[in-house]
Amino acid sequence: MKVFSGSSNKPLAEKIAEKLKTKLSPLEIHIFPDGEKRVRILEKVVDNECVVVQSTSTPTDQNYMELFFIVDAIRRSGAKSATAVIPYLGYQRQDHIFREGEAVSLEVVIRTLEAVGMDKLILFDLHSIKIPELFHIPVCHLSALPLFAEKIKEERFTNNSTVLISPDMGGIRRIKMLSEMLSGMPYASIVKNRNLATGETTAEEIEGEVKKRALIVDDMISSGSTIITAVNLLLQKGVSEIYVFATHPVFSNAAPQVLQKSAIKKVFVTDSIEVPEKKQFPKLEVLSIAKMIADELKKKR
Ligand code: R5P
Repeated sequence: MKVFSGSSNKPLAEKIAEKLKTKLSPLEIHIFPDGEKRVRILEKVVDNECVVVQSTSTPTDQNYMELFFIVDAIRRSGAKSATAVIPYLGYQRQDHIFREGEAVSLEVVIRTLEAVGMDKLILFDLHSIKIPELFHIPVCHLSALPLFAEKIKEERFTNNSTVLISPDMGGIRRIKMLSEMLSGMPYASIVKNRNLATGETTAEEIEGEVKKRALIVDDMISSGSTIITAVNLLLQKGVSEIYVFATHPVFSNAAPQVLQKSAIKKVFVTDSIEVPEKKQFPKLEVLSIAKMIADELKKKR
């Protein structure tokens, strides 16, 4: 098996390759003065199973184009198969029409991913469980929840003083699954409203009981507004210890500073997106999904 990496998340790709007892296969990405990219793989792939790791996080469009080009290069060079590992799938939140006149951006992305010649995709904690159904190629949808459950057990957060919190009703399924992994840890959900034009969030109520300690669980942190809205409501309701578990550290705008300054004790995320040094902060802990991905890739052999 040959493992290639785009430029968006090389540390994760290296860890995956290491767990597969191999090294990343070399490729050249040349950027022309006008910004166009030229991709060239520097290893023979004829009749080989190839894997390409690329998170389509910011800069989303550029990272997608790079992925398309790498898969095309692999295909044209005679690979037996091409599996794309996209730990964070850009545009996943635009999976349907919210307001009249909008494009369904995710569908455009899916059509292109399929057209370019991928055989299989490995994706992580998608915003909606319906997304895999939109593809016409096999999709393996992995989740960081087992990793979070392990961490919660390690931190010894007990069921009688801790409650899992979904910051919106859309995340209920996620916390129910996590609760099952934690011998029925209690859970509650915040009722969140988002202004579709401005993205601004508000939260007034919690469905379910809160406890002294709350673990907010979400798929991603982008601006941090959903988490901070949840934190403010939990503090008002008398919660005194708040931790956050979110798979994808999108961290746009000033999210790292806002999270660091908040009452949150610790923010656990995964390496589905590389967090550059300037976005790291003392309360952040990154858990690696490399083993889960490598284990899935091994199943193919
Ligand atoms: C929304 O439904 C998602 O699950 C996340 O809560 C949301 O996308 C996070 O975005 P932000 O950090 O900008 O509030």
